[in-house]
Amino acid sequence: MIRSLQHVGVTVPDLEVGRSFYEAVGLEARMAGEHLVLRCKGRAQDQVRLMPGTTKRLSYVSFGTDAEGLQTIRESLSYHGVVIHPAPFDIGQDGLWFRDPSGDWVHVTDADSMPLAPLPTPESNTPGRYRRIGQRGCTPSSKLRRVTPLRLGHLIKFTPDVDRSIDFYTQVLGMKVSDRAGDKIAFLRCGCGGDHHVLGLAKSSHSGLHHLSFEVMGIDEIELGAQHLMSLGYESAFGLGRHVAGSNYFHYIRDPWDSMVEYFWDIDVIPEDDSEWLAIDGAPPDLIAVWATNPPPEAFIQNFEAARDE
Ligand SMILES: [Fe+2]
Repeated sequence: MIRSLQHVGVTVPDLEVGRSFYEAVGLEARMAGEHLVLRCKGRAQDQVRLMPGTTKRLSYVSFGTDAEGLQTIRESLSYHGVVIHPAPFDIGQDGLWFRDPSGDWVHVTDADSMPLAPLPTPESNTPGRYRRIGQRGCTPSSKLRRVTPLRLGHLIKFTPDVDRSIDFYTQVLGMKVSDRAGDKIAFLRCGCGGDHHVLGLAKSSHSGLHHLSFEVMGIDEIELGAQHLMSLGYESAFGLGRHVAGSNYFHYIRDPWDSMVEYFWDIDVIPEDDSEWLAIDGAPPDLIAVWATNPPPEAFIQNFEAARDE
């Protein structure tokens, strides 16, 4: 039913702090009413909507589907007794609003995943497949290149009950589990196939945003992006490394509110007909990294978001 991740809404205490951070990440910012909307250069799809508030918190996640999917989701919500609410936020888009078992707002709208900006794909020379002939891979100015992410690929959010959240997102919204570590963390993809995960669910005492993840052109861009952010004073949270769950290369940087942004490249893609895909159910260390330049710090799995009153 759900066919894409559209964008994520986050409440923050200072929009200009958010603008500085996300422009440094490589996104483009514009005001939409009282909100600051971030997009990837050359792609007509909102990726992050920052909304003013007293403290930072994950406010909602917006997913896309088609007209048939929207009708099926409406019926599924009704069947499972999930209440459809009036829009809690003015985001200028139609769609269904409801809460997941963590109390997080979910928005589903009739919208496609928009095409990526057209970019040249750099050729690589791998053993036996030498495709970049007579052309440099790097020049002295390569290190000055500014990274512009191509798309928001996924988010991971905290939840007090991973099993209950899995049931909700699979049974009510048609997502599938790609890999999991018991009741500690689960990686969910859209039922129509695609990226290994568009949504991750990590165990915590309460809800919160763990990270937003943006696709870039390669491992060079992961590090060029991460090192640019570190040169501006933002803190490396984990990486460089390569995950097991999703197989993507990664580097995580702390955002100004102690969630994280991840640059990623080379994530596993699973077809809709996924009969060959065998989900791993292991311990968290089995899934976290094939290798990394440092072990994951304890803070990597810490939820810094304040618990809500409601
Ligand atoms: Fe990630």
